[in-house]
Amino acid sequence: MNNIVWHNHSVTKEMHAELNAQRPCLLWFTGLSGSGKSTIANALELELHKLQQRTYLLDGDNVRHGLNKDLGFSDEDRVENIRRVGEVSRLFVDAGLIVLSAFISPFRSDRQIARDFFPEGEFIEVYVSTPLAVCEERDPKGLYQKAREGVIKQFTGIDSPYEEPEAAELVLDTSVLSVRDSVEHIISYLRSQGRIS
Ligand code: ADX
Repeated sequence: MNNIVWHNHSVTKEMHAELNAQRPCLLWFTGLSGSGKSTIANALELELHKLQQRTYLLDGDNVRHGLNKDLGFSDEDRVENIRRVGEVSRLFVDAGLIVLSAFISPFRSDRQIARDFFPEGEFIEVYVSTPLAVCEERDPKGLYQKAREGVIKQFTGIDSPYEEPEAAELVLDTSVLSVRDSVEHIISYLRSQGRIS
């Protein structure tokens, strides 16, 4: 970066975490629209809050109302969407929070870029693997129907690709797991990794 010099701040990531008395990390939810990412992330955040953890939830539909409202659903825009969200997630983890990010994030390479921002163990990929047929059957926003009718173009799973994670830390299929079970799986995982007590 030309003519831009990095400042080392006196208050570090470790100091933020220590003051918050917690081990910040990023839980990255990926999966098809309607798979249950936002629902699980929302329920998990509430559970973590009850456990006195300081959290922040970033969600595709919401972030696209503000920070990313200039972006659409072309491959290029999705790459930029995930790049920005990865950066914001990193800032929030630096600030001492447990961050939950719920985005389709269809491309493996973009999720890898976000993962590479973090030391080992701090990026936890949660693949919400609910099959397309189930997501389409649920169709909570009526978007699959519109995509099938050709009213919406480049819809993930219909005429835009989704690349499944190959080594997600957690895989949750909400066609067989309830929201509560899914949340419990994640909480158990966080405990087993010593990230929460
Ligand atoms: S991502 O692919 O760039 O990661 P993101 O998670 O931010 O997507 O946004 C996905 C949400 O946008 C979906 O849950 C859905 O409600 C809405 N949406 C609107 N158009 C599309 C589309 N063409 N493909 C996927 N989701 C879409």
